[in-house]
Order: sequence, then structure tokens, then C-alpha cells
Amino acid sequence: MRKAYLFLIALFLFSCSQEKVPSKGDPETERKISALISQMTLEEKLGQMSQFDPGQFRGDEELKQAIKDGKVGSILNLVGAKRINELQKVAVEESRLGIPIIIGRDVIHGYRTIMPIPLGMAAAWNPQLAEKAMAVSAKEAATEGVHWTFAPMIDISRDPRWGRIAESCGEDTYLATQLAVAMVKGFQGDDPSAPDRIAACAKHFVGYGAAEGGRDYNTTYIPETQLRNDYLPPFKAAADAGVLTFMSGFNDLNGVPVSGNVFTLKTVLRDEWGFNGMVVSDWASIYEMIAHGYAADPKEAAEKALRAGVDMEMTSPCYVSSVQTLLDEGKLSMETIDTYVGNILRVKFQLGLFDQPYTDETLAEKTILAPEHLEVAKQAASESFVLLQNNNQLLPLSKEVKSVAVIGPLADAPHDQMGTWVFDGKKENTVTPLTALREKLGEARVNYAQGLAISRTKTTEGFAAAIQAAKKSDVALLFMGEESILSGEAHCLADLDLQGAQNELIDGIAATGKPVVVVIMAGRPLTIGHVLEKADAVLYAWAPGTMGGPAIADMLFGETVPSGKTPVTFLKTVGQVPLYYNHKNTGRPADYNNWTHLDNIPAEAGQVSLGNTSHYLDAGFEPLFPFGFGLSYTSFAYSDLKLSAGSMPADGAIEVSVNLENTGKYPGSEVVQLYIRDRAGSITRPVKELKGFRKVSLEPGEKQQVTIQLKAEDLSFYNGTEHVIEPGEFDVWVGTNSAEGLHAGFTID
Ligand code: BGC
Repeated sequence: MRKAYLFLIALFLFSCSQEKVPSKGDPETERKISALISQMTLEEKLGQMSQFDPGQFRGDEELKQAIKDGKVGSILNLVGAKRINELQKVAVEESRLGIPIIIGRDVIHGYRTIMPIPLGMAAAWNPQLAEKAMAVSAKEAATEGVHWTFAPMIDISRDPRWGRIAESCGEDTYLATQLAVAMVKGFQGDDPSAPDRIAACAKHFVGYGAAEGGRDYNTTYIPETQLRNDYLPPFKAAADAGVLTFMSGFNDLNGVPVSGNVFTLKTVLRDEWGFNGMVVSDWASIYEMIAHGYAADPKEAAEKALRAGVDMEMTSPCYVSSVQTLLDEGKLSMETIDTYVGNILRVKFQLGLFDQPYTDETLAEKTILAPEHLEVAKQAASESFVLLQNNNQLLPLSKEVKSVAVIGPLADAPHDQMGTWVFDGKKENTVTPLTALREKLGEARVNYAQGLAISRTKTTEGFAAAIQAAKKSDVALLFMGEESILSGEAHCLADLDLQGAQNELIDGIAATGKPVVVVIMAGRPLTIGHVLEKADAVLYAWAPGTMGGPAIADMLFGETVPSGKTPVTFLKTVGQVPLYYNHKNTGRPADYNNWTHLDNIPAEAGQVSLGNTSHYLDAGFEPLFPFGFGLSYTSFAYSDLKLSAGSMPADGAIEVSVNLENTGKYPGSEVVQLYIRDRAGSITRPVKELKGFRKVSLEPGEKQQVTIQLKAEDLSFYNGTEHVIEPGEFDVWVGTNSAEGLHAGFTID
């Protein structure tokens, strides 16, 4: 045990206010908020605290009357500037206090121009690009009257069975933190009241991605050390970046549902972080505390959510039905209600809704699907693609190729290509790989045979035509994976192999002897060992969105070069879940030089003859692909890892630099990744942790020194009592993925 010298940094207290009370906004706005609240009836206050889906009203008249009566603070699932202006007019001109409504919408990865799913966006390892993509999404949504998106979703997820991994930034806290900040900036800009910006929402606070068994909505158990070290940092970063709202999730965290969780919502979010924005519940998540067994009835659910600090209730009626009684019973004070109403009004002021409640109805037509938006979508798709295998450098294909076979259920699936959580994207705006390849090569050179109608099709009826197409072509391009409905909310899977008869179709095509390229579109990392055996090249394209087709076609023919890296570990088999790169070492780590596969164990082997280490007899200990993995058409050489100093004080920093050379034939971009390991700590530390990365573009033969600053503060962690930076020895690796890299060491003194 090392000397217990702890340098307390109190990281969380640094960047937020010193007081325990959340700081308010600017005094003028606060004065206006107080003035409004002082005039409000309880019914009007509860109106502000309620968010409705239009479907909850029996028709337009009832909705308008409710708005007029001040009973509607927010609406979700409504788009269209004209319609929204019409309702806003009722709020502003006909309700007693004229408070504008805030319109929320799930603009998760694009409005009409659909970007890659967030997991794909994460695979680009390019926060600036994520910011740009979300800025486009905000701009399009804003022209349609949307004021507020329920994004970014920054739940850490280490379980590909969970359908919502598609919507996440993957398994790593550092990467998710960088992307959280970028996406908040993209949606909100420097001034969220600008006509092309909308409020962002950090969701789902917190721990939702750790659902037991990868089954959505399920129980989560996360010890405080893990919560603070792995799950909270992206949310803290979003709060620091000025995100205007948070969403409390569905899950039960350590026995307390997060929509009634005083520890996460009050102690952490408000008291420690000083968040003074608005917290909205997830859809009926307050009411669902009854099903959780945490509240006996809507009144108790309301009491618990209010005690924790949920300002606005999404769709369920617990607040409206119970607050008066809770006040009468002395279980709640009017000051508490006023604080929450203030949090909501503050966001409305920050969005400029009081000054400009209406949307210019002429903007949408000029804005939506603008060529520059499609360009961003194409670049985002392109950078999200991860080249997993490229035997004999089959890719890129020569443009001289005489003909290609285009096969598979996702070759021409404009709906599925958009991925999950798409409400406003339209399949008629999507360009599929088939369309793009026909355009690039000319129709005559493309032999198309779907083979399977959809990803779950089991019948092999279409195989003969597909095999025929392959036989008469120079190369077979297979578009496999999963339909969009197989990932996303409540869409979890226990089996991660390709669905339907897809593996059999690949077998049939491979048997022709033609070179085979498999492009996989999916919302999660699937178990694709079989595909790797049969295909020469495998490109993982996630759900690439509106411009996925042209982005894929360009990459197949070398007009762009793959640069994506896995944002999540790829498993050999689903039984390995959870398997993530930044695990703990254990007392008996897997021994990489000495393990016996199940098939090689002699009969009646002695109990201890195989050694005793942490691994599976059948699947070993390694993933199919590690976190951060991705090939390129070109090659990169890393050399000369240098540290500006061998040690740093606990408030210091060192520069870590490496020479990177493009040693191949193509211009390309490489994500240079920096990992560390804290050799020993006051609690056990992960075997590796990403602490920095840079995406660098180099021409063939070009060499660059890449420097990443590592601050001692980046090495802090929560040890069960406090945030500390502990002196001692650290490893550092800089390399091309989490499993490879040049190595050095340093100390914190
Ligand atoms: C989801 C949220 C979403 C909300 C509103 C819920 O079912 O969990 O992520 O923002 O619905 O559509």
C-alpha cells in the first residue's frame, strides 16, 4: 500500500460555484422570472411544469383551451412552423400571462437531413464534425418550430444487446465526454436564442446504459465510485458546457428510480455542479415509479420526483393531480414549486422565446436538405465508417472494374439506412448504396439482386439470383446488417449474429470464388466472426443516414479513405458481455501466453492443469476487435514517443508526443489515441483509460509530430470519498487502438 498522500483537487467544486445553492442567471432575467411567478396561480405554475403530447387531448379545441388556460408549459412531438405558431399565438396572446410554450422534439441525429446514428458519429472520433452535424440538425429543426431537442444521449453503454447503444457514444467516458460538449455546442451554439439554435438536453440522467442483461428499462446497480468515474463525467461536461436541460431517465439506480433520486438530481446535479437549468422527466417516468414499486400512487410519485428536483413532468399527470394535496398536507412548499417554475421560465428566457416566440414560416423550405447540410451528412457518414478487414488490399476497388454485384437486404433500404430515432427524416430523401453505385458506375455495370428481402428473411428463395449476379461480376458487394427497428428504444437482442439467412447468403456468394466485400449497416456492434472468415473486406457502416449511399460508394472506390475507429468493443460472441477495454485487471488477469482452448483440453485434465486466470475456456479473453480499432487504405507508422518530462506535480501537465508517418499510398487520417494506466491507487484502477486523441490527416510520405497534453488533473478519480490525483507511477501508450501502442512511463510526484 503506498503512502496515503492524496492531493485533493475537488474537481467538481472547482468549476462550479462555491455556494451550495445553484447560481442564478442574469439579474434582469431573474427579476422578470420572479415578477411572473408572483402573478401565477398554482394551476398556471403546474401548467408550466407539464409537458404534453398533442395526442393527449381530444382534438384541437381542447388543446387550445388548455393553452389558453395556462395549463400547457410545453408540447413534444409537434413539428411545422405554421402549426406551432398557431398554438404559440394562443399561448402568447390569449393566455392570461402570455408565457410562450417550449416545443420539444427528439432530434437525435438529424432533423430531415439524417446524420449517422450517434454510435456511428462516435466512430468518427471527430468532435468538431459532431458539432457541425448537430448544428445542421438544430438549424433544420428550428425552422420547423422546434425549440428544444432531447439530445445528446450520453449514456455510457458496455452492452451491445441494449438497443439504445445505437443512440449512445459507446463505451468510453472520455470519448463520450468530448462528444457531449461538442453536441451541446452544436445544438445551442454560443447563443441558444439565435434563430438557428435550439436547447439541448443531456439524457438520460443517469446510468440508463447499464440496464441488467441489456434489457431496456431494466434495473441498474452502479456503485458510487463507478458512477462518478464512468457514468457522470459526460453529464458534468455537458452541464459545464452550458446545456440548458437535463432529462431524468427510466431506470432504477441502486434501488431508487432516477426520476426520484435525490442523490443524483439534487446532491450531484444541483448542489455539486450548480446546474440551474431545467430537468424534465423522461416519458411518464415519474408515474412509472409506481410500477417500480417506489411509490404507492401518483401522489407519492409526484412527491418523490419533486423532492429530487424534476421540474417538468413529461406526459404523465402526477404533478397536476397531486401538488395541491401535497401543499395542503405540508409535504411540499410553494417555494419549491416556484423554484422549479423559475428553472423552466429561465430556459424560455434563455431561448429568447419571450422576445421572439414565433418561427419564420418561410425558412424551412430554404433550409431543409440544403446542399451544405447534405455535404455535412456525407462527411459524417464517411468518417463514421470503420474498415475492419481488408485482405490483400481488396479495397479500394479500381474504377476500371467491369462490373459489380450489389447484393443484400440493406443495399437499397432507404428507411433502414437512416437508423433508429428518426421521426422527421424521409426515406425518399435517402440515397442508398445501390442508387449511388449505379450513379457512379452506370447502371449497366451494376448487377443487383437483393438475395434477402429484409435482414430477418429466412427463406433462401432469392439466393440463386444473387449468386448469378456475383458470378457475372468482378466483385460482389454485400450489404448486410440489421434493419433500423432492431435497435433503439426497447429493441434489445439476446443474439448478436446476423439475423435471418444472411450468413448463409454470404456463404453462397463466397463459394463463387469472387472477391467479397461486406458492408454492414447496424445499430450496434454485431458478432461477425463468420463474416470475417468469408469476406475479403468488411466495412462497418452503422446506420449512415441520408447520405450513406454516396459516402459508401466513394469509399469503396477510394475517393475517400476510411478513418473511423470502433467506439465500442466488438465481441466474438454475445456471452462475453460485458467486455470493455478499460476493465480492471483482477488478481488473476488473463494470461496471454498460456491458455488452453476448450477443444484442446485433454480428457480428465487435472483441476489446476489449465492455470487459474480470468478468461473463458471457449472464447478466451480477447474481443473480436478492440475499442479504438480501425484500418485504413494507407498505413501509419508510429515512432519516437517522447514525454516532455518524466514526472509532474499534481497540478502540472506533460506533453506527450509521437511521430506519425503516412507510410502508404493514400492520403488518410489517423486517430492517434493516448491511453494511461495508474499502476496502483487507493481504489483499483482500470488497465487502460483513454485520456486524449487527435485525428490527423497526412499525405503519403508525410510525417508529423503529434502532441497531446496530459494534465495531472485528467488523471483524477473518485475514490469513494473524494476526487483525488494520486502520486505514483503511470503507464502511457500512444497508438492506433486500445490494444496497441508505443509505451512509456511517468510519475506524479
Ligand atoms: C425516451 C426519450 C425520449 C422521450 C421523448 C422516451 O421514451 O426514453 O429518450 O426523449 O421518449 O420522445
